[in-house]
Amino acid sequence: MPEGTYYFPEGFLWGTATAAHQVEGRNPNNTWTAWEQEEGRIINGQTSGLACDWWGGRWREDFDRAQATFQNAHRLSIAWSRIQPTPDRWEETALDYYREMLIGLHSRNIVPMVTLHHFSEPLWVAELGGWENPDIIDLFAAFVEKAVEALSPYCKLWVTINEPDVFALSAYVEGLFPPGKKDLKAAYQVMNHMVRAHAKAYAVIHEIQPEAQVGLAYHYRHFRPAGWLPMDRWMAGLFHTIFNNLFPRTLKDGVFNAVVKKDRIPEAIGTQDFIGLNYYSSDLIRFNLLAKSRMFTTMSFPKDALLSENGFIASQPAGMEACVRWGRQFGKPIYITENGVEDSTDEMRPRYILEHLQALWRAINDNAPVLGYFHWSLVDNFEWERGWTQRFGLWGLDLETQKRIRRPSVDLYAEICRLNGISSEMVERYAPAALPELFPPA
Ligand code: GAL
Repeated sequence: MPEGTYYFPEGFLWGTATAAHQVEGRNPNNTWTAWEQEEGRIINGQTSGLACDWWGGRWREDFDRAQATFQNAHRLSIAWSRIQPTPDRWEETALDYYREMLIGLHSRNIVPMVTLHHFSEPLWVAELGGWENPDIIDLFAAFVEKAVEALSPYCKLWVTINEPDVFALSAYVEGLFPPGKKDLKAAYQVMNHMVRAHAKAYAVIHEIQPEAQVGLAYHYRHFRPAGWLPMDRWMAGLFHTIFNNLFPRTLKDGVFNAVVKKDRIPEAIGTQDFIGLNYYSSDLIRFNLLAKSRMFTTMSFPKDALLSENGFIASQPAGMEACVRWGRQFGKPIYITENGVEDSTDEMRPRYILEHLQALWRAINDNAPVLGYFHWSLVDNFEWERGWTQRFGLWGLDLETQKRIRRPSVDLYAEICRLNGISSEMVERYAPAALPELFPPA
């Protein structure tokens, strides 16, 4: 079997990603906390509760873990609902707390990337109509101004909004996230307001911190037609246009083109310094006349793909390469801001990590300007409407005791971060089944 190493570029960022509501715990004025109290919203009636208890200080031990395992970057988010719990109140102690966390990262030689909106808002914002109300553009900008004023000495990499595509779909089409709507018109408005809010936030951040690097984290899905029927191909193209292209294309040419409706948002042109890409899996698309509520579509995974524990993710590393190739069209540096798999037993994760990183390496070797990779996630955390049934952490979490469980992937990822690459020897030890594919015999 050939031996070798796929090295990544010098100075590559290797980290993990988390989000405030998923790890902090006890977040009283937040839309998700309220949502969790409603019957039937979260699987098995689970709640985020203490989560990973970062608000109780356990971020320190988790950052220690990241440092001890050679991670040099971490993507986290801050909660708007903690910083502005009511319209007329700025909570300085919350900003102090986040400041301490960012200093905590620096002191461990970990570069922070901060997300300003990751799926949740203060309750008062939701009461005003949330992202359906155009007022949110100014409200979000005011929050961003306050947060960036306070935290810019400790952070240069900002993600304004996490996955606007998933947010609009889950909260306004599928009804799985608050406010639980199934209303395409509302989804259109929400996306449109998110583009405008992002553009304004971009300007606000650069005004405060000219050297800031500002982007979004897009969830990229590689959609392929399930069969040979032209309608399957057409549908796959439509999903790509709306889910993947709508937002970033508007930032390129100012045309918000939602196929059935168009708008011009010229102020959005040129408002991203990097492209954040969250890649997990790819879908086969089949046109289905009977599936009216699912936009006449049936989605599936290829029959031979390796499936995650709950069938939520099919391992399709080729999609990682496609994702980066797609991201290149915007002419900006790229960060993989999320990638990972739900797997409580760690049976699949080592192989998933190695195969996806090799696919990423292929794209980089083809000159894609990728600057870093953030694995989702550092430690198991609250997975939205799926509660605690999905475990994405390198470290597991025992919810009862708050104990962290060291999965083999911790050591694999530590070796990758330390070597700045993946070696045949690593593959042999952690995922031998992937060896022929990753290091094929000559
Ligand atoms: C992403 C999301 C993360 C995390 C991950 C795994 O869509 O940004 O917050 O939940 O999926 O499910």
